[in-house]
Amino acid sequence: MSNGNATMEKIVALCKRRGFIFQSSEIYGGIGGFWDYGPLGVELKRNVKEAWWRDMVTAHDETSVPDGAPSAYDMVGLDTTIIMHPQVWRASGHFDLFYDLFVDCKACKARFRADQLESSQCPRKPSKRAGEHDDCDLTDPREFNLMFKTTVGALIDPSAEAYLRPETAQGMFVNFKNVLSSTRVKIPFGMAQIGKSFRNEITPRNFTFRSREFEQMEIEFFCSPKSSEAWYAYWRDRRVAWYVALGLESEKLRLREHGPEERAHYSCGTADIEYAFPFLSEGEFGELEGVSHRSDFDLRSHMEGKLVRDGDELIVEPDEHGQPRHPGSGKDLSYFDDVTGTKYLPHVVEPSGGADRTALALLCEAYDEDAIPDENGVPQERVVLRLHPRIAPIKVAVFPLVKKDGQPEIAAEIYRGLKGRWNAFYDEKGSIGKRYRRQDESGTPFCITVDHQTLQDDTVTLRDRDTTEQFRASIAELESILADRLAP
Ligand code: GAP
Repeated sequence: MSNGNATMEKIVALCKRRGFIFQSSEIYGGIGGFWDYGPLGVELKRNVKEAWWRDMVTAHDETSVPDGAPSAYDMVGLDTTIIMHPQVWRASGHFDLFYDLFVDCKACKARFRADQLESSQCPRKPSKRAGEHDDCDLTDPREFNLMFKTTVGALIDPSAEAYLRPETAQGMFVNFKNVLSSTRVKIPFGMAQIGKSFRNEITPRNFTFRSREFEQMEIEFFCSPKSSEAWYAYWRDRRVAWYVALGLESEKLRLREHGPEERAHYSCGTADIEYAFPFLSEGEFGELEGVSHRSDFDLRSHMEGKLVRDGDELIVEPDEHGQPRHPGSGKDLSYFDDVTGTKYLPHVVEPSGGADRTALALLCEAYDEDAIPDENGVPQERVVLRLHPRIAPIKVAVFPLVKKDGQPEIAAEIYRGLKGRWNAFYDEKGSIGKRYRRQDESGTPFCITVDHQTLQDDTVTLRDRDTTEQFRASIAELESILADRLAP
């Protein structure tokens, strides 16, 4: 789609200029790794989340077998809390293992991620890489747990310590029994959740790509151990197809299967869906979503306690008295399959994506520059966001050509009529060319202009953002034309 002229500087500038994304607390100098979504950004991100929720949950048809799926399946949604019982994070392994290695510079006090030393800049001038100034004094790598700590209640005491969730997934695992007993779902089925997650990233970077507060869109798909490989294959393909359908060009998108050395200790298979973000060098890709085959690791951990690898097996980690170091809930989380008469601990396939990274990838993909003739036929450079209509923050803008002759009244009436169905925008300020270009930069797929002819024959001009072609249509037809062209 885009002509490849997107750079991160241009995208960040556009996001600020048009109100997509601002640095959090900017008037106080900002705070690293936190971003606010402005009036257009909030619509864009909501559209990403709504498209995901609709495609994965509400529009899912459990009565038929989707293409490529081993069988029909159920999907349900959940919305669980950000702060959970601290034992959740001990049993899941996050308390002990969710860390990055960091390196401090004793000379300039900067902190770097150990695995990013080579690409990290020393904050001092002249600009050099970390460790390259003569007096740089780097420590050995040390562990840094990424979970944000807080306290619950009035007591400031270790027993009151809690964590902001670093992923939404655990809220679904711990509700496995509740969902089974309160709904009619049977295995195979998926739980879906969208929500905020928090990670105290050592070096947040690349705009919203690596933030400290972000939103995840996660599915925990529970299935029988026998069918889990087939479901893993299904979800990888299904999730790639979702990004393609939203307009991510397949050349910049790839599915990369992890080698055994890269996988987490519990994983039987992990594949990342990656996008060639413009902040990366040629040939490099950044993770948009991970699809993991997690075996029975999660339900077992919450049943028995924190698991560690022992040869080919996962065992409950013992403490010095031979007791579970971090006990699970002790609740039986196994599943009785009344068709086969067997009881087993379900396996989990987890497609886990980020709403912020998806929104960023869609912005990068949509960014384009071209030249279009102005009112006098002189080519003018324009910036245009060629966003998929489902994702575009504003679907249609309505303008009177001039602010007189009854045109504003007709345009406002059309605007009111469309607003009930789509996010529409009314604008009567500035030249018509400027108003079009403003909407092009905002990614609005269509503009409607009321002009002199409207007063005679009730027709208006419809302008297409991508081609800039204009055609006349009667006011009465507008809704059906837009419904057709904005359809997913
Ligand atoms: N439950 C599995 C899990 O959390 P993950 O690969 O750590 O897996 C899943 O995270 C997705 O969440 C990533 O693919 C990414 O889209 C998003 N994500 C993770 N860390 C992020 C960060 N610091 N900033 C923005 N998005 C992030």
